[in-house]
Amino acid sequence: AHQWRGVVTEYAERLPTHVRERIVTLGEGGTPLVPAPALSDRTGADVYVKVEGMNPTGSFKDRGMTAAISAAAGRGAKAVVCASTGNTSASAAAYATRAGMTCAVLVPDGKIAMGKLSQAIAHGARLLQVDGNFDDCLVAARKLAEVYPVELVNSVNPDRIEGQKTAAFEIVDALGDAPDIHCLPVGNAGNITAYWKGFREYAGLDAGEAFGAVATRTPQMWGFQAAGAAPIVKGHPVDQPETIATAIRIGNPASWEQAESARDTSGGVIEAVSDEQILAAHRVLSAEVGVFVEPASAAGVAGLLARAERGLVPAGARVVVTVTGHGLKDPQWALRTPDGGEVAPTRVTADVVSIADALGLD
Ligand code: F0G
Repeated sequence: AHQWRGVVTEYAERLPTHVRERIVTLGEGGTPLVPAPALSDRTGADVYVKVEGMNPTGSFKDRGMTAAISAAAGRGAKAVVCASTGNTSASAAAYATRAGMTCAVLVPDGKIAMGKLSQAIAHGARLLQVDGNFDDCLVAARKLAEVYPVELVNSVNPDRIEGQKTAAFEIVDALGDAPDIHCLPVGNAGNITAYWKGFREYAGLDAGEAFGAVATRTPQMWGFQAAGAAPIVKGHPVDQPETIATAIRIGNPASWEQAESARDTSGGVIEAVSDEQILAAHRVLSAEVGVFVEPASAAGVAGLLARAERGLVPAGARVVVTVTGHGLKDPQWALRTPDGGEVAPTRVTADVVSIADALGLD
């Protein structure tokens, strides 16, 4: 019987040898690519969602973390550090504990979802809440790793990008070729960088030359930032980024240039979506597609729907949207109505007649 062995082993030949010397894996990757008829109907395209919430710690970060922690373990590292809006810290904590390493995480005070905070603590991270935003945390984490014996496992670590590029490989393997358009949220811009690298390599470009082409083409990369945290769209850093999508509440992305390059060389776009659009897309994903995501993860769908409304999605185009993190990370948004009210469960007594009555059954 075959069991998925994690992305470093499954795609070993396409990853650098130093990430394979001591593989630390929790079985990440191999996530479902789910057809989304509700999104196809709304856009006139052929839409799939790549459900990255199905990774071991509930987000795409695990793909990069297996590579980064494996490489650190191979070098004999004892401690790692990251700055995080939550998911990176949950992932780093899990993989570091698995490798027997200490993990320090710097998170913006009060601006990280409870599920993610719980994960980092459960996995034994040294969690420090920093009086500042994600960008401040990242500056501090980088300096700490420069001066002290701890390795940085943010996506500025190239091993993270190597691991995360495997998601593009999986999509091409599932569809038989690259999609026409790939949509995803953009925060610190590591993931758009990684996908673009993966799609290029599978098309036989750059480092993929040695392997020949699996795909005949590369997709347009469509990235979406939250409107209150949209530095790449605005063309300048945002000092006080604000959005309910805390995962992408980032004002000065580390991989800014790489994201622009992915956008421009792919013929794609990076646009902003409002929090209202994000929450509307979140509802479509939950209530119509059947996939529960955290708000940031809905930004790619929000952007696709916004562009479809403007007539910018070609009819019949094959579109993949990466939904990056699980809904259970930050579940409170499901309990809000579109006008900001609260959804309260209906209370009944435990008898069949009152239950049938509450359900409107005759
Ligand atoms: N979606 C989710 C759920 C995320 O957690 C992140 C980033 C992104 C999208 C954006 O990806 O940064 O590669 O452009 N989260 C980081 C963290 C910043 O610390 O967990 P990106």
